[in-house]
Amino acid sequence: MSNRTFTMIKPDAVANGHIGGILNMINAAGFRIVAMKMTQLSTAKAGEFYAVHAERPFYGELVEFMSSGHIVAAILEKDNAVEDFRKLIGATNPANAEEGTIRKKYAESIGRNAVHGSDSDENAAIEGNFFFSGLEKF
Ligand code: CMP
Repeated sequence: MSNRTFTMIKPDAVANGHIGGILNMINAAGFRIVAMKMTQLSTAKAGEFYAVHAERPFYGELVEFMSSGHIVAAILEKDNAVEDFRKLIGATNPANAEEGTIRKKYAESIGRNAVHGSDSDENAAIEGNFFFSGLEKF
């Protein structure tokens, strides 16, 4: 069990002014922000980040959306980080997200769902390394 996970605040939530609200929920749940940056992904970079979904029917839509505006990428630290963060963000489809979760509060739809959270320790490390150099993670 690693104590770090990776998150992105997606273009819908950034455009709608929810960076602060989402970071407040993350801090209130006991996560420490280890590294953070605001940037915009090219379609090539978004495609690379989500390459694991390349064969899915929604891949094109996902890549287009994730490169459509600014995102906030961050590495978060807490005991049991991956699992606890997935609980905090709630179900991928906000229609199924529980009360008190970030997606219940801020997500618009299964595609425009406000935040990403790594689904395993291995992917948390891969995704964190995608955005941050060793010098930025402390
Ligand atoms: P995320 O946790 O970022 O990882 C993959 C993303 O694919 C997921 O969140 C959803 O936003 C997106 N996704 C999953 N299923 C669909 C779908 N049916 N249509 C559009 N996007 C989807």
